[in-house]
Amino acid sequence: MGEQPTLTVEFSAKSGDEPAPGEPKFRATNVEAWFGDNRVLKGITMNIPTQRVTAIIGPSGCGKSTFIRCLNRLHETIPGARMAGEILLDGVEINGHDIDPVLLRRKVGMVFQKPNPFPSMSIKENVLAGLRLTRRLGKKDQGQIAETALRGAALWDEVKDRLDRPGGDLSGGQQQRLCIARSLAVEPDVLLMDEPCSALDPIATARIEDLLHDLKARYTIVIVTHNMQQAARVSDKTAFLLSGELVEFGATDGIFTSPRDRRTEDYITGKFG
Ligand SMILES: Nc1ncnc2c1ncn2[C@@H]1O[C@H](COP(=O)(O)OP(=O)(O)OP(=O)(O)O)[C@@H](O)[C@H]1O
Ligand SMILES: [Mg+2]
Repeated sequence: MGEQPTLTVEFSAKSGDEPAPGEPKFRATNVEAWFGDNRVLKGITMNIPTQRVTAIIGPSGCGKSTFIRCLNRLHETIPGARMAGEILLDGVEINGHDIDPVLLRRKVGMVFQKPNPFPSMSIKENVLAGLRLTRRLGKKDQGQIAETALRGAALWDEVKDRLDRPGGDLSGGQQQRLCIARSLAVEPDVLLMDEPCSALDPIATARIEDLLHDLKARYTIVIVTHNMQQAARVSDKTAFLLSGELVEFGATDGIFTSPRDRRTEDYITGKFG
């Protein structure tokens, strides 16, 4: 008897049957999104590869943030906002009626533009904060989980002697890595990053870029950036959005050296945007 495909998927843990690196992690088909009557995504179709860095570029207001917020169903949390189309994660429709968005967001973590640690909470507690929402933590585990996440975010050496100090005492770049550690502690498969370096100086930015390089060995990363050089440096694939449409999507090298669409070329050479 043939097995019925099932939509009931435990989205919490690393599944083990993750697609091979380079194979699609997300398959987005004809994704549309609205704020009220305003249709801001007009049918986006793209596959996002597993354990690669995918950059989303395009002028302000073109729908970059909206698109990545559809990937973990944050878009629907805004009153009046909705989406249509299909988004498969590991082959499962994330908008399926039996999918718990909270579990989905554990698997698809997000790092925001402005570092947003809890400033008076300790560094260690900041790292554990996301995880605490999902389960009780044994005392013994806490130190180990915090250390692993801080090492993963390349922050451990800078904070290991002051884990009980407030998160707000860290520099902007350290705070952003603290937020990355907080996301990693939940053990997601995917990290969505919405302009994670825009509030950082060039040195802090370089550290995050180095970190991305290490993280993609384990995580699928989607990064929104206004910085063309950054997209070219860190990503394997690049998507160029314009007015809610996907103009071009392909290998980053190709997009930056020989874009196929005139509008992509104009944008990356700074003619508009
Ligand atoms: N909360 C909201 N309510 C209503 N409209 C919104 C909201 N957020 C975004 N929009 C609109 O949706 C469109 C896409 O916005 P989005 O934030 O996705 O753009 P973006 O590409 O991320 O821009 P930026 O580079 O400035 O961050 C814009 O026209 C914007 O005005
Ligand atoms: Mg945005």
